[in-house]
Amino acid sequence: MDEKKVMLSGIQPSGDLHLGNYLGAIKNWVERTEEFDNYYFMADMHTITVRQTPADLRRRSLEQLALYIACGLDPEKNTLFIQSHVPQHAELGWVLQCYTMFGELSRMTQFKDKSAKHQDNINAGLFAYPSLMAADILLYQPDFIPVGEDQKQHCELTRDIAQRFNHVYGDVFKIPEPYIPKTGARVMSLNAPDSKMSKSIPEGCIFMMEKPEDIQRKFKRAITDSDTENCVRFDPANKPGVANLMSIYSAITGKSYAEIESEFAGCGYGKFKPAVGDAVVECLRPIREEATRILADKAYLESVYKTGAEKASYVATKTLRKVYKKIGFVAR
Ligand code: TRP
Repeated sequence: MDEKKVMLSGIQPSGDLHLGNYLGAIKNWVERTEEFDNYYFMADMHTITVRQTPADLRRRSLEQLALYIACGLDPEKNTLFIQSHVPQHAELGWVLQCYTMFGELSRMTQFKDKSAKHQDNINAGLFAYPSLMAADILLYQPDFIPVGEDQKQHCELTRDIAQRFNHVYGDVFKIPEPYIPKTGARVMSLNAPDSKMSKSIPEGCIFMMEKPEDIQRKFKRAITDSDTENCVRFDPANKPGVANLMSIYSAITGKSYAEIESEFAGCGYGKFKPAVGDAVVECLRPIREEATRILADKAYLESVYKTGAEKASYVATKTLRKVYKKIGFVAR
């Protein structure tokens, strides 16, 4: 039997998980459980490039893990772990910093954006972050990395770093391909449909653990369009707000845009918006309940992240050992 291809991804626990993370990423991960050998982690080491409140970081890391499982990521079939529990990330991260050029890091748009936003804390970690991300990836020799638009540049840099290293030392790293899922929604902010849904605009963001009445309120206030048409029609260029709601509804119900248009023909936005809200509430309800149950079971959660870290570490150690040997470090 052929070995399964390896897939890896992570999310920073710098904010509470939201509908965009679920429909755009986690839901697809769940669907790929059987097809790939999967590694998914909480990228806690990345979050401290920006100042965090310690208690919140700890809570969100565990909540993120509970939500991964509640969304259907089976810890028996996926390796789920917390980045800082696998010290090989920091170790390879350092090595790869020495194979990443100052100019390359200076060109990263995420660095430019984040340093503009956090002028008082433009630290070395924020600058070198893509080298750590390259280590996260290359340690597991994955075939694919799912790329969101905002991470494409980092994935390309990862390939450049890997190729540079291989060029000097021979084939150490597999060169990963970006993976563009066939399905999966790009969820936009409910009250600013030209920006991605994100925690930084909380009124336009649906959090996974949010109360149903708050979710409904946000959908009722969602921006539709300034046209007077009041008609549910898929037209992203002219009706981005409605298109976003349709794409959320489609991702949850599996209905096509044409089906949605006929379902709401003649209804107007006043009926459509709460209907999308209901669909989201009902989709999130069992996930929220299951995550709450898992979070209360500390022993279970701990067993998941410990086992995950052991499995991840086993693979990561192999790669790191090879790297250390190639660059001339004395074997331990
Ligand atoms: N940089 C990613 C983000 O901010 C998170 C991340 C860290 C990641 N390491 C990764 C994603 C490795 C994929 C693979 O969203």
